[in-house]
Amino acid sequence: MTPPSDFATGEGPASFRTTPAELLFVCLGNICRSPLAEGVFLHLVRDAGLESSLDADSAGTGGWHAGEPPDPRSVEVARRHGIELRGPARQVQREDFDRFALILAMDRDNQEELRRRRPAVATRGRILLLREFDSEAGQDLDVPDPYYGGPSGFDQVFEMVHRSCVGLLRHLHGPSQEQPPESQ
Ligand code: 4NP
Repeated sequence: MTPPSDFATGEGPASFRTTPAELLFVCLGNICRSPLAEGVFLHLVRDAGLESSLDADSAGTGGWHAGEPPDPRSVEVARRHGIELRGPARQVQREDFDRFALILAMDRDNQEELRRRRPAVATRGRILLLREFDSEAGQDLDVPDPYYGGPSGFDQVFEMVHRSCVGLLRHLHGPSQEQPPESQ
């Protein structure tokens, strides 16, 4: 893992370890990948007893599925791992760029769209790719969109998202002074 350089700027790892931080997971529709990432991350946070210092939400760059619950295939793969997903879906809002300390995009298209929409004035949220925290990621840092594929795509997404959330949590609250991924 090559964790994000802009974390280490005074708003970086040290501050995440001492103040409550809200994280926003973002994909395209907010029904497949980002609700899964939110659910997995919150599950890990609860297991680690860190609910008081970390919270999470998710959103989509698109609004077509706003108001809908998570996709049943994401619900199913999460349930098999003992994780309940939250909904309903919503679209990213302007306020999100200030409300969230860290905005984690599922793929590069999502990340580019977030960068385009980020208000020109300085905002708090750092925009990174979730898989920058995946210990097994190679060159390709996208969580692939599973919407038009079969159920095995959701298993693959779960594994990537889980490894990434483990890495992310370790980065935010781990014992070592890891440097965050090169991005933004
Ligand atoms: P997500 O997946 O971005 O992981 O929620 C998708 C959900 C819906 C669509 C595409 C991707 N769609 O085209 O409606």
